[in-house]
Amino acid sequence: MRVKKLELENFRNYERETFSFTEGLNVLTGKNAQGKTNCAEAVFYLCTGASLRIRHDRQLIRTGAEFARVRAETETRYGNVSLEARVFETRRELYLNGNRVARAVDFLGNMRSVFFSPGELRLIQDGPDERRRFLNLSISQTSREYCTALLRYSRILEQRNRLLKERDASLILETLPVWDDQLAAYAARIVAKRREYLAELSPRAAEAHAFLTDGAETLSLAPDRTFHGGEEEIASRLKREFEESRERDLRLGFTTVGPHRDDIRILLDGADARGFSSQGQARTAALSMKLAEVEIFKLLSGEAPVLILDDVMSELDLSRRKKLLSRIAGVQCILTCTHAERVLYGAECNKIRIRAGKIVGAERP
Ligand SMILES: Nc1ncnc2c1ncn2[C@@H]1O[C@H](COP(=O)(O)OP(=O)(O)OP(=O)(O)O)[C@@H](O)[C@H]1O
Ligand SMILES: [Mg+2]
Repeated sequence: MRVKKLELENFRNYERETFSFTEGLNVLTGKNAQGKTNCAEAVFYLCTGASLRIRHDRQLIRTGAEFARVRAETETRYGNVSLEARVFETRRELYLNGNRVARAVDFLGNMRSVFFSPGELRLIQDGPDERRRFLNLSISQTSREYCTALLRYSRILEQRNRLLKERDASLILETLPVWDDQLAAYAARIVAKRREYLAELSPRAAEAHAFLTDGAETLSLAPDRTFHGGEEEIASRLKREFEESRERDLRLGFTTVGPHRDDIRILLDGADARGFSSQGQARTAALSMKLAEVEIFKLLSGEAPVLILDDVMSELDLSRRKKLLSRIAGVQCILTCTHAERVLYGAECNKIRIRAGKIVGAERP
């Protein structure tokens, strides 16, 4: 799949601009703060419905404008698809082939993308939030079932947490078991899907890592808790856990167990990568996970996602840069950097120069 055209209107620092992307490598160049990442973010937003850097969509609207509009024309093996998002102060509208879609799940997954930037270091070095976000975004792009389970789980979790803060003890005792039943069912689906996904991701990430490091390091990924059996078995175990944690949850006022607290263990040469790896090691491990994600999307949908590499070339050493470029041949890639010459070594690409939210030059291969 690929993005052929991207139109931005009042999106971030763009007033109105249209990008044409080719297959293969598209390179956005320009000085700092000109709009390279903003353009990449727009593509990611249309694929995932989530912004990269912010919690509130309204920040995507150009300062002073009423709403932002992002539209992409894409080509998939099922034909051409147009995706459009209109972002208003407090809501958004999504359009698929010009028709309004009511639910985000029907919009997501039409176009898939994998994003990598220097910030992805957090995936290795930070707390579990980042790794859960990675899993949630990645699995949601390939499984509508997961996306729905996750939305329902979050909604019930919110209600459960509200109930835990109630004063009326009889109300709590009456209602909590009802929530716990439903929570366990969705939690089990999430856990089972994550387990399945990690089983596919782990060997591919290990292979990518061995490739990037010439076999000098081994990377392995695994869920931090092991669950046996199918969804039903997992659900009854989780239900038991919710029951067992009830007292503590009531004391603390929130739900202390469940997939919203689970994590992935990332090991480099057998040692926990968190708080142990160097910046370069963490970056390479994160990149390997993203390259594995590309492979999984290929496997599941039969076509490669759009790969977005934001500002990562200058952070990698020469050998890893070259390896990365060779690895992504055949994948449409949107790559941002300040100096294309220094990082691409004459690789054939569609070069787009950006200044202050405007395209100021384009060089087709
Ligand atoms: N909602 C908004 N309205 C107007 N301008 C915005 C908005 N959001 C971000 N910007 C501006 O967009 C500019 C470009 O940001 P962007 O992150 O795309 O830069 P960049 O070209 O990737 O730079 P760098 O090389 O430093 O990464 C920033 O200066 C930022 O202030
Ligand atoms: Mg940037």
